[in-house]
Amino acid sequence: MRTTTRAALLASCVLQAACNNHSAAVAPSPDPVTGTPAFDTSIDTRQLMSWMIDPSSKVVFGAVASIVTEQGEENVQPRTDDEWNNVRNNAVTMLEAGNLLMLEGRSRSSQVQDVTDWNAKARAMSAAARSAIEATEVKDPEALFAASGDIYQTCTDCHAKYIFTATPDAKQ
Ligand code: HEC
Repeated sequence: MRTTTRAALLASCVLQAACNNHSAAVAPSPDPVTGTPAFDTSIDTRQLMSWMIDPSSKVVFGAVASIVTEQGEENVQPRTDDEWNNVRNNAVTMLEAGNLLMLEGRSRSSQVQDVTDWNAKARAMSAAARSAIEATEVKDPEALFAASGDIYQTCTDCHAKYIFTATPDAKQ
């Protein structure tokens, strides 16, 4: 019965041509004066952290490690092209996420007062991610490990200032 219902729905969609144009109809147009595209920032800063930045950072952070076991030391690092590419792709996501953090709705949704400072912290994350990308291009695990440390520093720098905004008087 469910299949029939779906088919019926699809059929009515085809009949109403509007279904095809649905996304085009709701997509906001660029600002007619400045030409600035209307970005969709409905994914807020917190979601961007949990769903994009955190998962990607885990791939980059976990790519190079030294694991000491009873059998001795095991060096974890990307070895195949696919493994290197996967790290690179996630570092690219992080670099671009830095750009996304600078979109207007993002800084606002975390009650940022000093947007210039916020943007500098977002750019620092992108810059560290760029070092990670470069490390994957030359397949250098040590450089990737160093870049991961730099990226991690940019996370904590921003969090130290902007996560604990519940008690504004307590910070600084
Ligand atoms: C430019 C600032 C900035 C940078 C850089 C940044 N964060 Fe965040 N992060 C925030 C803010 C602000 C919040 C709190 C958002 C909220 O709760 O509204 C947050 C929250 C989080 C959270 C908690 C999300 C939740 O569901 O509560 C995680 C996880 C996180 N960040 C991971 C990271 C990691 C990992 C990095 C670095 C790779 C990073 N962030 C870099 C600003 C930043």
